Amino acid sequence: MGLKPYLTPGRLDEIVERVAREMASTLKGSNPVLVGVLKGSFAFLADLSRKFDAPHEIDFIQTACYGMRDIPANEVLILRDITSELKGRDVVIVEDIIDRGHTARVLLEHFRTRGAKSIRLCTLLKRKGGAPELKVDFVGEEIGEGFVVGYGMDYKEQYRGLPGLYLLEDG
Ligand code: IMP
Ligand code: MG
Repeated sequence: MGLKPYLTPGRLDEIVERVAREMASTLKGSNPVLVGVLKGSFAFLADLSRKFDAPHEIDFIQTACYGMRDIPANEVLILRDITSELKGRDVVIVEDIIDRGHTARVLLEHFRTRGAKSIRLCTLLKRKGGAPELKVDFVGEEIGEGFVVGYGMDYKEQYRGLPGLYLLEDG
């Protein structure tokens, strides 16, 4: 298994800076709740929060998606829920990558029942053509084929601590 550089830490920094600026200009003054989807979004959300130049709160939710790659089922389980009260709040779901969009769809549905004032989607990476009907409000970059690791993202729980993003290659 080889690792091919995909986005350097410097490039990620620029991308996160831009996303944080877009988000702050949309949500300034509303004290939004940024909800990171564990585990893959922890690095992105940590940097996003430090660059988000306005009051905001942080929470986390943990999901597991069975049906990734070879398994046909598409079930998304919520393993750990947020603790924040969402009534009347602006909520931003923060993902590492929106691939087929199953996780995002389930979480939008999950939060809609909590009385939030608005629910937006933010993702570092979005698969090209992956979930065409899904409205994603803040996107770091689009990505084509290939499995990426690093900057919070894993392959079998490894590589999350790499400061850059890499494409996983066979052999
Ligand atoms: P979904 O298909 O949009 O629900 O994606 C589910 C989850 O699969 C994402 O949140 C990631 O955790 C994981 N995933 C999808 N593609 C990749 C990848 O290239 N690298 C690491 N994780 C991935
Ligand atoms: Mg994952």
